[in-house]
Parts: sequence; C-alpha cells; structure tokens
Amino acid sequence: MPFTARTRHLAPEGAYQVLARANQLEAAGRDIIHLEVGQPDFPTFENVSRAGIEAIRSGKTRYTPPSGMPSLREAIAEDAGRRRGIEIHPDEVVVSPGGKPNLFFPTLALVEPGDEVIYPNPGFPTYEAMVQVAGGVPVPIPLLEENQFSFDLDAFDALINERTRLIVLNSPSNPTGGIIPPADLEHIASQAERYGCWVMSDELYTRIVYDGLQALSIASLPGMQERTIIVDGFSKTYSMTGWRLGFGIMPKELAARVDLLLTHSIGATAHFTQFAGLEAITGPQERVDVMVSEFQRRRDAIVDGLNDLPGFVCQKPQGAFYAFPNVTGTGIGSTELANRILDEAGVALLPGNSFGEYGEGYLRLSYANSLENIHKALERIKAIL
Ligand SMILES: Cc1ncc(COP(=O)(O)O)c(C=O)c1O
Repeated sequence: MPFTARTRHLAPEGAYQVLARANQLEAAGRDIIHLEVGQPDFPTFENVSRAGIEAIRSGKTRYTPPSGMPSLREAIAEDAGRRRGIEIHPDEVVVSPGGKPNLFFPTLALVEPGDEVIYPNPGFPTYEAMVQVAGGVPVPIPLLEENQFSFDLDAFDALINERTRLIVLNSPSNPTGGIIPPADLEHIASQAERYGCWVMSDELYTRIVYDGLQALSIASLPGMQERTIIVDGFSKTYSMTGWRLGFGIMPKELAARVDLLLTHSIGATAHFTQFAGLEAITGPQERVDVMVSEFQRRRDAIVDGLNDLPGFVCQKPQGAFYAFPNVTGTGIGSTELANRILDEAGVALLPGNSFGEYGEGYLRLSYANSLENIHKALERIKAIL
C-alpha cells in the first residue's frame, strides 16, 4: 500500500519487537528473563496510585485544558525550575501523555522540510522518527565510548551548520547511561548560539543518577533557556510508565504552538492521571531515592558480571538503568548475539544497533529487574558463551 513519505521510514521500537518474541517463547513454555524493556520494575508509589484512584472516584474524569491543569503546570514549573536552578513560568510548561508527545510536537512546530536535526546515535529511536515525520534531515552524531558516551564533539563541529535547526541531547542517556559533562554542554551551547539553533534536552532520566553525580541541564547555562525545550516526565522517576504523564518546558510562544498541536491531536492528558502526577511531585520524595539506590546496587552487580563474560567490556553507566557493554570481543554481531542469548539462554535484551548504526557492537541490558534475576541472567549468558 502506498504511504506518505513522512511515514514511510517509520520502524518499530526494538524493545517492543524483542518483547513480542520473548512473549512468544514464554507462551511456548520457556522461562525468559526480561532485560529488554525500559521501565522501572517497582510498582507506582502507593500515595501516587491512591491519588489517582481518589481522583477517579471524585469525578476527575473530564477534559482538562490541552496543556494540562493549571495546578499541575504550576507545580511542575516550581519543581523543575528549582531542580535546574532556573525560573520557569507555568505558561512555559506543557503537560502531555508521556514525554513522547513533547519530543514530537515541538519538532513538528520548529522543523521545516529540509532542516537538519542533530541527534545522538546510539539514541532513543523516537528522535529519528520525529525528524523524518517533520520532513527534516536526520544528522546522527556518534556517542563515543572512550568519552563516557558523550557526543563526539569533533563530529558535532563538522556537522553543525546554517541549516541545523535543532540539536537533540539526552543526558542521562538511553541506551548508554552516559551523562554529558558540563564542558561538553558549554561547547554545544556556544555552537547552538552561534548557528541560532534550538536544543531539545531529553531529561527523562535526570533523577536517576549515581555516585553523587548530577546531570546538568543545558537550559541552566546562560542564555540557553530561551532556545531550549526540556523534555521530562513521570514514567521513570515515579515508576508511572503506564499512567502516561510527561511534560515539556519551552518558551511561551512555542508552548502555545504545541498547545494547538495537542488540542487537535490528543485533546488533553487524562484528568485523573494529572492528579496522580500532582501527588508525585508534591508528595514525599524518599521513594525515588530508595529506587535509585536499588538501581545503583543492581548496576554494580550487572557491570561486574558483564565484565566477567568473555569478549564483553562494560563501562559503569552514570545514570538511567541500562548497561551498554561493548561485545565486539565476542566476534559476533549485535543482532545475532542478542538473538542467540534470547533463544539459547532465555534472556531478552536488545542489540545496540536498534538504537542506530553506531550502536553496532553493543548490547543494551535494562537492569530494572531483581538482583536475583540479574545474577541468573548473567550465569545463563556465561554458560552459552
Ligand atoms: C530517552 C527517553 N526519552 C523519552 C522516553 C519516553 O518516555 P514516556 O513517553 O514514557 O515519558 C523514553 C522512554 O523509554 C526514553 O527512554
């Protein structure tokens, strides 16, 4: 069937494909350990669920303004601004069902056909998809392992030019767990100013950081807030992936454009979900810290275990909940290795190239799973290698 050029290139997300195959194997009686899916394995925090349930019970089941309830936008402006050391006005906050619409819609509002968009590779697959749907030209920049998976700044300098409209950053990163160091952010910021580009800073994992590190937002650098779209949300921080709640922070005029796109596509984010989100950010935050400490224990265990496997070399990720080992030493390509590990060891994980061509030679393992399962998965992989 002939489809439009703007949708012709769309491909499924690797995680959903592997999950479907793993589910098939499970249905046939196999015991599968799931390290493919990118969501915290903790239940949504009790106080948050209760707020959502109470909201449904008390009739909070209506349309809200497209960009979200004023009380939630105010709370996000205060919380997100304080955490980043910047001032955010509620009119600059756009609430959406998950962070994804706030990746897609600002891109649709800013990128004309032919405009170039720089984005990380390996990187979250939605970046390439949204650029293609907008008719933009995708310009992937390699992330360098030797640089803790920050941008290859030489490649960046060679590729940025007058046609670059938008630069996408993701720190901490899916799939690498890398954090972009302040010096690199400063360099990227000065180039963005020089060429007059927008920056989209995907900060979905900003609260999931280890060893006392912080992921600085490029919007906190002088002069950058006016050209930056911060994308963040509740999915990872509060273990709320299925509630669908995220937000974007951007200059007012752009927020008003995105509001129109939401009006005519999504309408609004679920009313009761927004009440759950309000409780998540205004309620106690200790559960987030407990979850992050648990992720850190698992990170240490999985990285040690992976470095013990023949042909694997794994850096210690600084954030998010993914390990991204270099597996070139096995002599087996990423896709074949991931398939063999699923078929023979019953461990579902993703080939690095499902995040772009520069992910070839790597695997992505989500450690949002119990320590017991992580140890079991490592033993099983070791046995087949
Ligand atoms: C880097 C990154 N950005 C954005 C998202 C979107 O998350 P959500 O739409 O659930 O907020 C994800 C989800 O996996 C992600 O990994």
